[in-house]
Amino acid sequence: MKKYLKPNVKAEPLMWKWFAWSYLIPPLQSGCNIVERYLKIMRSYVSFPKIHEQAVKNPDMMGGPFLDLDEQHVGLVKDLIKDTQDVCSTYIELSNGLKDFQRLLQKEATGNALEPFYNKVPDLLKGFVELVYDTDNHPQVLLMEKLIYNKYYTTDGQSISLSLLDSDERAFIMSTPRVITDDELNIEVPFIDNAWDNLFKAKHTATDVADLASKLGVQDQDMAYFGTLFTDDAPKQKEDRNYLGDDVRVRYFGHATVLLQTKKVSIMTDPVLGYDTDGSGDRYSYADLPDKIDYLLLTHNHQDHVVFEVLLQIRHKVQTVIVPRNRKGALEDPSLKLILNHIGFNDVIEIDDLESIDIPDGEIMGTPFLGEHSDLNIQTKTAHFVKLNGKKFLLAADSNNIAPQMYEHLFDYLNGIDVLFLGMECDGAPLSWVYGPLLSNPLKRSHDNERTLSGSNYEKAWSLAKESKCTQAYVYAMGMEPWLTYIMALQYEPDSIQLTESDRFVKTCKENNIQSERLFMKKEWVV
Ligand SMILES: [Fe+2]
Repeated sequence: MKKYLKPNVKAEPLMWKWFAWSYLIPPLQSGCNIVERYLKIMRSYVSFPKIHEQAVKNPDMMGGPFLDLDEQHVGLVKDLIKDTQDVCSTYIELSNGLKDFQRLLQKEATGNALEPFYNKVPDLLKGFVELVYDTDNHPQVLLMEKLIYNKYYTTDGQSISLSLLDSDERAFIMSTPRVITDDELNIEVPFIDNAWDNLFKAKHTATDVADLASKLGVQDQDMAYFGTLFTDDAPKQKEDRNYLGDDVRVRYFGHATVLLQTKKVSIMTDPVLGYDTDGSGDRYSYADLPDKIDYLLLTHNHQDHVVFEVLLQIRHKVQTVIVPRNRKGALEDPSLKLILNHIGFNDVIEIDDLESIDIPDGEIMGTPFLGEHSDLNIQTKTAHFVKLNGKKFLLAADSNNIAPQMYEHLFDYLNGIDVLFLGMECDGAPLSWVYGPLLSNPLKRSHDNERTLSGSNYEKAWSLAKESKCTQAYVYAMGMEPWLTYIMALQYEPDSIQLTESDRFVKTCKENNIQSERLFMKKEWVV
């Protein structure tokens, strides 16, 4: 019988029971996270469950390395440690081998020839790395990413857990593995499989449920639960989801998700959609998506901007994805294009700074994105410049304006812009929160705390806006929407610096005749 997938079906992608995110796809980076993040936190919990239980209750510890499960789950986590060690043994060996070798190189390669070191490359990595110095004679191991994927990448352990959500409240998932309960169905089909597209299409097109179940390998005993995810009622697919006017319509979907539409083209940035849990219309959700997203733009590879849970659900609507190019071979900077290819996006274009692509009604260009990556040499970041019907938009994400002269040069080149979108999360987490597992030697605590993932504060944001000569400036990407709690450990108080600085920014913009606000939940306007 043909039915629709309910709009509040949560589809949580998992890898070895952990929430799947981009750094878990490339084998080496995945191995580093398994060893340095997941196994460590699970072992700590097994030894001191009470400490974890108490720490997660403390709001100051939010987002810290504490597992949010009560003591009765110790046995389960012990089993998960064992399973992870078995299933991920190759990834673990790769990661350990690379770290050992990097430490050896740091000690012994001091400007001398590197050729003799190829014999010392761990066996699993032989033929997959090139050894080089930078011009300051610091040795580096460059990874041959594509060859490594071909040899080692596996979809084993990938699954998507389906369940019904009745509110936005979800636990932070980056530091706790998922314990599968009776109220969900965990389907072990790789992300790349197009059976998932068939399932998610059923959100708007009635589909045969038995056929879907067979494509997803749903077992007989799970059919009753699977059936509860569907409904006979046609969804309230919004009639105005495709734009037919002569202007550019802008829709803010929450966080860094902006939809720009003309009659001819639909462009969406960094999709993080909330589920429609109560039909209240307080947000744009899946039913508001246009029939086709011609260009999906991803600004940078942080877990609140590249969200697999959303990407997989909209994959069937997306034509082309545009991403920044990475720094080839760098452990800390894996190719976002290859990551997306491995989760089923085939049409992915990489762009560099000031490189542009012609599109119907205009163009899309990459522009520099400063900072916000803990001073690591990560190049997978771009602020997209979009020109549509002659109107110029800059979607600058979390760019931290640490060198205002850069914007003088940029806006000189662009001859100003009309509409600016800028994140102002100016008190970001320390380096170790995201990149710690990739380091071969631990960082001094004081350095870790200095090297944060912070965006622009008032002064930097205003300097940028002023230089841009924009007539509209919006603060976005603040992580304030209620459906983001599972990926962002943020809890703002009225006097939080992120809010006071962005309030000042909005006020100054208005005083200077720039239309401005801090976006929240939803907004639509035309330019
Ligand atoms: Fe970011």
